[in-house]
Amino acid sequence: MLSGKRIILGVTGGIAAYKAAFLLRALQKAGAEVRVTMTPSATRFVGAETFSSLSKHEVAVDVFPENSSATQSWTQHISWGEWADLFVIAPCTANTLSKIAAGAADNMLTSTVLAARCPLLICPTMDGEMYESPAVQKNLDTVQEFGYNLLEPAEGYLASGLEGKGRLPDTDLILEECNAILKKNKSEGPLSGQKVVVTAGPTREHIDPVRFISNPSSGKMGFAMAEAAERLGADVTLIHGPVNISKPAGITSIEIKSANELFEKVKEHANADVIIMTAAVSDFSPKEVHSQKVKKDTADSTIQLKQTPDILAWLGDQKKDGQVLIGFAMETENLLENAQVKLKKKSADWIVANALNKEDSGFASDKNKVHLLGAKETIQIEGLKSDVARKVLSHIFRNN
Ligand code: CTP
Repeated sequence: MLSGKRIILGVTGGIAAYKAAFLLRALQKAGAEVRVTMTPSATRFVGAETFSSLSKHEVAVDVFPENSSATQSWTQHISWGEWADLFVIAPCTANTLSKIAAGAADNMLTSTVLAARCPLLICPTMDGEMYESPAVQKNLDTVQEFGYNLLEPAEGYLASGLEGKGRLPDTDLILEECNAILKKNKSEGPLSGQKVVVTAGPTREHIDPVRFISNPSSGKMGFAMAEAAERLGADVTLIHGPVNISKPAGITSIEIKSANELFEKVKEHANADVIIMTAAVSDFSPKEVHSQKVKKDTADSTIQLKQTPDILAWLGDQKKDGQVLIGFAMETENLLENAQVKLKKKSADWIVANALNKEDSGFASDKNKVHLLGAKETIQIEGLKSDVARKVLSHIFRNN
């Protein structure tokens, strides 16, 4: 479950903070990407540099960092809160627990708790009789009422020399709990148990072995759609053309080259519950494909083209009951009118329309500005492609 998952590790100011470094390594070993947020007092136990070196990412401590850079701004708690699949606070002191119970937002860790959309695992860790104190017990009840997950501390030798309940549980146990939470979360998602096919990237229509017709699609939007569907609980199959981005972990992916190959693979998966056609499919392929490189002395100056199959339109014709078809539309003019035509003509349920000539949108950008068109409504969504993907699917599958 942890492979490819994005985890925020929150570290608070207790002696067990040093154990969080081992937890970070274990999460990474299990395939997770980890970012760390520390409370200011945690940095008195372990330097932020330890965690930034291990996580290969800046550690978030202050809401208003002194040397604020583009990657660490005061709104970071919001973007991290949206980024994460799971937030683990280990160790969590009585102080931070009380702040979470009260809804405080006085540092990056507590602010991120409020901003997080993902499940939270709190590992309360404290010395002596603190854990049994009425205030701590009340706060533990409160955070559970909020829906947060708790992992009880282990019993044993404590830093003060006392014996009791308060130790940070073994790393293996925390990992087991993380797995269980992610599994439960997936089974509760609106796309849980549903088969979702996402197509992404460009197609290549070869003229000869060294030349082809294609387009600059990076695959970023399609990959983001696949990841967003997986986060909503779906079993995702990603069918993609040639791209230079890394494959999303934990998602079955199939590589194709041409529009025809894509069509064949889509046909094999045409019974999926949801099909998302993000691929920038070439509309034409050469009538003749040369088996050897065409030499310029003998080449004809014109290339005869034929139309490729319109895969989305084919899916629209075959559509089974309850199946949801989502298409994309890339336009350079009359965005909404053209997208509306595609919605009807291809019998899609939704079209995500984006304009090529706008700043912060289009092929290679990390961001996108889209209109989501349905039979009854059109809404605008913009942001990082990952946010746009998540918002598109949340709108379609949480509102329905
Ligand atoms: N599409 C498809 N098969 C094709 C061409 C496009 O399935 N041969 C899908 C795309 O994946 C997208 C939608 O149809 O989901 C719209 O693609 P777009 O390129 O915007 O439109 P076209 O249908 O190609 O129309 P036009 O080129 O006239 O804009």
